[in-house]
Amino acid sequence: MTIESSAQAAYLVAALFFILALAALSKHETAKAGNNFGIAGMTIALIATIALAVDRGIDAIGLILLGVAMVVGGVIGLWRARVVEMTGMPELIAILHSFVGLAAVLVGWNGYLQVEGGGDSAEVMHLISQGTLGIHHAEVFIGVFIGAVTFTGSIVAFGKLSGWMKSNPLMLTGKNFINVGALVIFVALTIWFCISPTLWLLIAVTIVALALGWYLVASIGGGDMPVVVSMLNSYSGWAAAASGFLLENDLLIVTGALVGSSGAYLSFIMCRAMNRSFISVIAGGFGIEAGPSQDTDYGDHREVSAKEVAELLHSAKSVIITPGYGMAVAQAQYGVAELTRKLRESGTTVRFGIHPVAGRLPGHMNVLLAEAKVPYDIVLEMDEINSDFVDTDVVLVIGANDTVNPGAESDPNSPIAGMPVLRVWNANDVIVFKRSMASGYAGVQNPLFFRENSAMLFGDAKDRVQDIIRAF
Ligand code: TAP
Repeated sequence: MTIESSAQAAYLVAALFFILALAALSKHETAKAGNNFGIAGMTIALIATIALAVDRGIDAIGLILLGVAMVVGGVIGLWRARVVEMTGMPELIAILHSFVGLAAVLVGWNGYLQVEGGGDSAEVMHLISQGTLGIHHAEVFIGVFIGAVTFTGSIVAFGKLSGWMKSNPLMLTGKNFINVGALVIFVALTIWFCISPTLWLLIAVTIVALALGWYLVASIGGGDMPVVVSMLNSYSGWAAAASGFLLENDLLIVTGALVGSSGAYLSFIMCRAMNRSFISVIAGGFGIEAGPSQDTDYGDHREVSAKEVAELLHSAKSVIITPGYGMAVAQAQYGVAELTRKLRESGTTVRFGIHPVAGRLPGHMNVLLAEAKVPYDIVLEMDEINSDFVDTDVVLVIGANDTVNPGAESDPNSPIAGMPVLRVWNANDVIVFKRSMASGYAGVQNPLFFRENSAMLFGDAKDRVQDIIRAF
């Protein structure tokens, strides 16, 4: 067996590990195993790629550069993964997607310089003899386009999520015209490049794609960022697949397609969860038609103390906890888990209602609750629990806001109108844990806080939960 064929076999095994990883990551119970499958697949892929490079005659300098790149990348990756807060994960994911996009642009440009630019005459002769030179032109052009859109789109997503860019949508007139115009230009340039692969066409498509990526994500508002992150995940997968075609690397094609399709499917599920149109997400700038209805006077809110909440919980038979981003910020999950244990020991039924976009990334709340050892069987999805609020004595809304906003159902002018929400207001009593009357991520006021059966427990969620445990 030659190194070449062994490496191809290893790529196949690695691809299987990646598929197993995706399957296992979809359930809490097997998520850790999913990570291990992913690590195993990537280790096999790296070893096979290095062996292949050596077999194909990489020189000493190339080998040193490869080693340096792996060590530098590995150290940065390990350091970031160790220090990143759960709340900072979307930014990290966004910036990592930008690297994939940039890599695809560089691979595309390298492909051009070697073949169309005439750098490697043997490769040109090989492609001509195979009759695939035209396909190479298309691969270069499409790879650079997808990569550049992913690159700038991810940078803007990173900027918006980390707060150095405003999260409001960029409102340019003629949004649809710009989107369709950019796509028409791309198709026209691709055809032109396939007929006559000149450098200026590649420069033009790179500029158009960089501008389009920036504009597409800039025109999406903060509340819709989760879908954008998973959409960029998908784009980065297609960018990697495009590089795979150029580099004739089957594993890159398979992995890219897996990431591309799973990211697209996740975007689709999230769009459905937020009642958004998938097509308008892809086109950018959705959800901006309605203006915020900030001026409405909702009346007065009521405040309670931790001691009063403890008394209320004492007499409750059924409690539902709906956590949100604030629980993650306060790191209140351990206290919440302890309170849950105490309530269950005293005979109260306690369950959790998880909104699909609660927090700042898909599954954010599930990870935090699993970390604090909350049993999986009492953690329910929004659709599983939404009809049960009517029969519930007390709901504890811990650091959630947009995901429990009744305005999404009742106010057609709300920026989150139509987004399915947890119907917490149907319970007998609702206690909202937050520090102030400030709005949530989407920047909309929440009429829930002013309802008669709602009361606010102000302060850091972790401290307030501890106060309740003490009083309980
Ligand atoms: P949000 O609407 O963001 O509300 C979080 C609330 O937590 C805020 O009102 C804040 O109020 C409170 N809070 C913050 N720190 C706190 C602390 N230390 N103690 C107590 N309360 C604290 O959260 P949500 O309901 O989870 O909704 C998620 C939002 O994020 C949605 O709009 C969603 O579209 C968006 N988003 C989601 C994702 C994914 S995939 N999950 C990704 C990006 C964006 P105070 O400041 O008054 O305390």
